[in-house]
This record gives sequence, structure tokens and C-alpha cells, in this order.
Amino acid sequence: MDIINIYDNSDKLYYIGGVVRDKLLGVKSFDVDITYVGNAIEYCSKFGEVIQENPDFGTVRVNVGGREVDFASTRSEIYEKKGHLPVVTKIGCSLKEDVMRRDFTVNALAMSVSTGEIVDYTGGQKDLKDKILRVLHDESFIDDPTRIIRALKFRVRFGFDLEEHTRYLQEKYLSDINYDMSYKRVKKELMETFNLNSQRAFEIFIQEGIYKLVSPEKFELPKVNIEELIKKYPVEHTWLVYIGLLPDLLRLEFTKEERKIVEDFRAIGDLKTDFEIYKAFDGLAVESILLYGISKDMNAAIRYLDILRYIKISVTGEDLKALGLKPSPKYQEIFDYILQAKLQNPQMTYEDEISLVKNYKN
Ligand code: CTP
Repeated sequence: MDIINIYDNSDKLYYIGGVVRDKLLGVKSFDVDITYVGNAIEYCSKFGEVIQENPDFGTVRVNVGGREVDFASTRSEIYEKKGHLPVVTKIGCSLKEDVMRRDFTVNALAMSVSTGEIVDYTGGQKDLKDKILRVLHDESFIDDPTRIIRALKFRVRFGFDLEEHTRYLQEKYLSDINYDMSYKRVKKELMETFNLNSQRAFEIFIQEGIYKLVSPEKFELPKVNIEELIKKYPVEHTWLVYIGLLPDLLRLEFTKEERKIVEDFRAIGDLKTDFEIYKAFDGLAVESILLYGISKDMNAAIRYLDILRYIKISVTGEDLKALGLKPSPKYQEIFDYILQAKLQNPQMTYEDEISLVKNYKN
């Protein structure tokens, strides 16, 4: 928290939001947000190290001793269109007005950069001590439904609980969802929440009906413990192994890769033999295989991941050519023939495979 010391002793600079919460909790912060009471762009331009600025939001990125730091101006906002990005109504408002636009009391704390004094307009310190998430006003989830997912993230990350009235507001919103919302922000929060790899998060997500923000169709909690599964088979897109199970994902703007992971597992039907399992899963992302396992057949998924995927045939197209076979679709038939044999007898050597090819030719 010493990055600002080289600036000046401005009493208008405050650490704000998550960074203050994290400091009081004694945990590491992902990023440092600093607010200037007034216009941060004008303030920072005095130092001549501005890297990037966004006058519409009053934010500015500067180089502080070789480190990039983001400064925001205090600002007030209104949600003209519920569920979408708010519109800035004033840049350079009071610290209190800035704080009141935020999601939860524990995220509405400020700390003076020069003195370390905590400014708490909403009772955030007490809620932090009591491990409670409390919205600042009754419209909070209507303005920004992603806050319901953010609450889930903080509940799981810090072991917090929803304050009673906040829980009521969540239930109320989830019983009458306005699906015209920014799904880009929803997706970001889902990723951050489910990349924590927490079975508890998924249980709350399903049991409290939070999943309906994405996928209105009824969905039951799968019996598998996904957290344990991912610990055993780590993947790049942990969040997708949870979210990919939902029946209706069209609202989330998936990348090509994400879409493929989900489409691949859905396209696979019943798998009976090792050969069928191998052919279905070969080349697929582990995420897709886990999704198939959770939703359809875990034995098949585990058999592939633990054993079958390590079985490879040694014979190549070059070998077939050397044996006098002209390149044709027949090559694939031969490879499959050898593979079937090798799945039954993984100890087969290269020579065994070659003699199989010769038999096949005959
Ligand atoms: N905020 C908000 N409503 C949102 C997103 C953010 O009010 N939908 C406010 C909160 O005050 C939050 C701050 O903006 O603390 C910064 O947002 P962000 O960096 O997303 O969250 P952090 O609280 O810093 O959480 P994390 O540790 O996950 O980054």
C-alpha cells in the first residue's frame, strides 16, 4: 500500500472498494483501486506520466515508479437501462456519493492514502466483522443483477453469508428476472466465481435458483462432486465444467473454443465399448469429457482419462506405404482395426501391429 507515497500527501486520495475489504480481511488483493475526490485526470496530469485516460468515466492509468496504477475520479451514476452499464451523472462528486453507487457495504469502504483512516458511510466494517453481504438499497439487484453472482463469489471466497433482507431481495429478483441485461458482465462474474472450483458455489447456484439468470429452464444439481473431479483432472476452463451443464447457454457469448467444448460433449450419445469411448473422446478437450461424465456416463469418462487415452498405435501411414498399400480411406480402417486390437491388448508391440496389418491385407 505504499505506491502513492511518491506522489504527495493529498488528503483526497482513497483506496476504495475491494482493496480496502481485502486489507481489513488480511488477504491479498487482485487489484488496487484508488479514487481521487475530484477529477483524477486533471490531478494525475500534473505528474506527466499518464498512460491512458477515459474522460467519460474520469479514469486514468499512470506510471508510478514503473508500476501501472489506475486512478478513478469520484463519480455518481444512474442505471438508465436496468441491467446494463450505468450512466455517469457527475465526475468529481463527494466521496459519499461515490460510495453509495456500489454493490455491498463491505465493498463500499474507503481508506485515506495519506493517513490510513477508514471512511465507512454504510456500516461496512461491522458487516465485514460479521461476515455479511448487504446491499446498499432495494434496487441494487434490479440495477445490476450481476451483483447476485458477485455475492455468490464473495460468499464462497470469504465464507460470507447474505444478510436477511438482501436474501429476500435476491429471491424477489430471481422470481421475476429481466433477461435484458449485459451478459458480458454476467459471464465475467461466472468465470471468476466458478474458476474458484467450489462445489459449494455450484450448490448455492442451483439451490437458490441463481442459474436462472442464465438459463431459465429447470435444472437439478448433478450427483457428482465437480470440485473433486477437477482436482483429479485439472482443466484450463474450470468454470465451463460447471456452467456447461446448464441447458440453455445461448445468452452467454461464448468464444469459438468455449462453444466447441459444450457442443462436443452434447453431440456424444451412448458409449458401450472401449473402442467407441476412444473414438468419441480422442482429440476432445478434457472439459468436454468431464461434462459428458457428469451428465451422462462417468465410468466411460474416467476409463478414457485414466487408461484409454494413453494407448496409442505405433504404425503410421509411412509404414502402410512401405508395405505396398496405396494411400486411401482404407488407411483409416486399418488404423481402427489395429486400435481395436491394441485397446484389448495394450502390450502389443510395433512388430505385433505390423503383422496385424499384414493379416488385414490378406
Ligand atoms: N462494483 C459494484 N458493482 C459491480 C461491480 C463492482 O458496485 N457490479 C464496485 C464495488 O465497490 C467493488 C469495486 O466496484 O469493490 C471494484 O470492482 P471489482 O474490481 O470488480 O471487484 P472487487 O470488489 O475488487 O473484487 P475482486 O477482488 O473480485 O476483484
